[in-house]
Amino acid sequence: MMDPEEFVSESVEALRSSIEGRAIIACSGGVDSTVAAVLVSKAIEGRLLTIYVDNGLMRKGETETVIGILTRLGVNYKIVDAEDEFLDALKGVIDPEEKRKIIGEKFIRVFEREAREYDADFLVQGTIAPDWIESGDHARDTIKSHHNVGGLPEDMYLKLVEPLRDLYKDEVRKVARFLGIDVSERQPFPGPALAIRVIGEATKDSIDIVRKACAIAEEEIEAAVARGEMELPWQYFAAFLPVMSVGVHGDQRAYGGTVAIRAVESIDGMSAAYSKIPHDVLDKISRRITNEMKDRVNRVVYDITNKPPATIEWE
Ligand code: XMP
Repeated sequence: MMDPEEFVSESVEALRSSIEGRAIIACSGGVDSTVAAVLVSKAIEGRLLTIYVDNGLMRKGETETVIGILTRLGVNYKIVDAEDEFLDALKGVIDPEEKRKIIGEKFIRVFEREAREYDADFLVQGTIAPDWIESGDHARDTIKSHHNVGGLPEDMYLKLVEPLRDLYKDEVRKVARFLGIDVSERQPFPGPALAIRVIGEATKDSIDIVRKACAIAEEEIEAAVARGEMELPWQYFAAFLPVMSVGVHGDQRAYGGTVAIRAVESIDGMSAAYSKIPHDVLDKISRRITNEMKDRVNRVVYDITNKPPATIEWE
């Protein structure tokens, strides 16, 4: 079993000797990239620039939350607005692997631009073991290309540093707790963000729908946990499906899209069981989504599939 204290001192030492000059790291506010940022910042201090890429695909309020986290950590950071760039690149794309690759490549292009400006040769990423295992190595099929692995363009000039490569999520959380980082219990969020929670084309409009649906699912589940009605699931969110169905509003026929709610229990994301959420909570989520998004969504379903055979995210 990994000892967090030993892990921190060994990786800080290793990072110090391997990173010459300056480095950049992209921090999404998730536990992996935040832990990686803190480790590298301990190793090379003022030679690290942390960037947060606002790609227009993040959850409600996420940019403000991340600014708060980075400010509390006291790291040197920069917010990069890249919404148009990401949405333009995703125009017309519906294949999940293609979306992941495009997003991975876009991230790298932004990192390269920022690195050039900061005069850095090194790019740090918070890749963890399941990211590259599921992106396919010699022994496995590609399940999905995790954006920080499968999307790396071959012509990238930056040298890649991945201090958490051998850790699983529960181990990263242990390191985060040891370092006193207050994001240790945040639920995981995928690198390609809300783009892979829209089945079909990710546009400003479809992202906006799934962003609202995710916020409602999160708010209602967290409120139920606070009332002691259920345990906090490992991960909980919504996906927007381009499945149109007939509904009725008052005495008018309606025709709108579908939102799927997903909540799972897991230890490391490699396998998962769907959460047995109380029906009252599902009922609140369904009513709020169909009320607050009346014009666009008239059906809410709950995903009762384990991993395997499904994966946690829909794409
Ligand atoms: P899946 O959907 O593969 O997800 O069962 C397992 C866990 O990983 C998260 N996930 C990702 N995390 N980059 C990430 O950093 C990605 O490309 C990515 N895809 C999925 C997912 O949310 C779940 O926690």
